[in-house]
Amino acid sequence: MPTLAPSIIASDSGRFAACADEALSAGPEWLHVDVMDGHFVPNITIGPDVVRALRPVADEHAARLDVHLMIENPEQYVEAFADAGADILTVHVETCPHLHRVAQQIRAAGCEVGVALNPATPLGHLDGILPFVDLVLVMSVNPGFSGQDFIPETTAKVQRLRRQLNALGSSAHLEVDGGVGPENAMELIRAGAEVLVAGSAVFGGEQSIEQNVEALRNALTLKV
Ligand code: DX5
Ligand code: ZN
Repeated sequence: MPTLAPSIIASDSGRFAACADEALSAGPEWLHVDVMDGHFVPNITIGPDVVRALRPVADEHAARLDVHLMIENPEQYVEAFADAGADILTVHVETCPHLHRVAQQIRAAGCEVGVALNPATPLGHLDGILPFVDLVLVMSVNPGFSGQDFIPETTAKVQRLRRQLNALGSSAHLEVDGGVGPENAMELIRAGAEVLVAGSAVFGGEQSIEQNVEALRNALTLKV
């Protein structure tokens, strides 16, 4: 069953907790939290305090906090985000010369380990780390902002990664992030993705958050 992870930065930044509550009330079991530092990506967003504020909202819905660190030197903040209540901490391979060490640090801090790849970063960068991770996040836009157009080459990348994970016998989650909506959600699931992040497709547009989630679920034929 595919998992939908609404991305909270695409919501009203003055009402993160209320928007998270509304999105999770519509059924998703994960909440995606985008942390940006203005260095690795050209935008600044959320820090550990916001994760801490979202933790009780996630708990109310038995949801997982999927924290995506788009920051340089992520090893300096692993414990802060773990203490704030992250369930999954995902770091970018582009920011980690000692990726295996950071993966161990995340696990020691009590979180699941995610690694993310920018669109231009080849899958080969995962070769040494795949057996150690719980999640691979494939970026389908260049990270920094929600509301960007999906990069179509991502689908083939997801297919190749799915084959690699299967060959390894890995049960790591395969997550796609950026420009995901009802029009491409099913294509990504067919390619082998299992977790879809959706920012503007959940929090944007004219419809309510509930209607947007419903549209995504319909596109994935998740309805019983
Ligand atoms: C982009 C972020 C994404 C983004 C998704 O840097 O990592 O999670 O918020 O938003 P949409 O779905 O609007 O592309
Ligand atoms: Zn993200």
